[in-house]
Amino acid sequence: MSSKRIAVLASGRGSNFQAVIDAVAAGGIPATCCGLITDNPDAYAIDRAQAAGIPVYIVDYGSYPSKVAYEEALSTVMKDLAADLYILAGYMRILGSGIVKAFHGRLINIHPALLPAFPGLHAQRQALSYGVRVSGCTVHFVDEGMDSGPVIVQACVNVEEEDDEEMLAARILTLEHRCLPQAVRLFCEDRLMIEGRRVRILPENKHPSE
Ligand code: GRF
Repeated sequence: MSSKRIAVLASGRGSNFQAVIDAVAAGGIPATCCGLITDNPDAYAIDRAQAAGIPVYIVDYGSYPSKVAYEEALSTVMKDLAADLYILAGYMRILGSGIVKAFHGRLINIHPALLPAFPGLHAQRQALSYGVRVSGCTVHFVDEGMDSGPVIVQACVNVEEEDDEEMLAARILTLEHRCLPQAVRLFCEDRLMIEGRRVRILPENKHPSE
């Protein structure tokens, strides 16, 4: 198993990006992080990348005349990085179908709810308003729908009586920091196989070619 190249797309705080950086540094993921791509020149994720010596690529949405032009630039940066895996970690834009198709099977996302419940924005708020007793997070492959691709890893938390959006989001975030590195590790160990809607997780040391 060779070491993989992974790239992260993040728009803001970047705590999930940090969890991946830390897991790579600790030897828990057989990969090199070859770049952070952000659409936001003010993202705190940039500071995290710089502190870890990871190259930063800013594709500033606001400086392109259209979404098409933005996505063309983004796609070029992504292709040039030649990563094995692209991780959407708090990347706040919906990717067009051109990019999703071009990186099919190599693009994953983390979402702060137990999909298919509560896709889209403010997932934690949606969960609270609905009144569910359990929520959590999902790492999934990206397809052309909204948070709808095959699920890789999920974990759950109880929704407590006194929870507000911030409290629930904080508890889910702790889980995200565990689940995202776990999913990235499985990918980098060549242990994920997409079979229709399902993702098969192969046992350790058993590769699809065997
Ligand atoms: C996380 O809750 C993630 O699931 C969602 O956006 C948030 C990003 O947080 N997509 P961070 O930037 O990783 O701290």
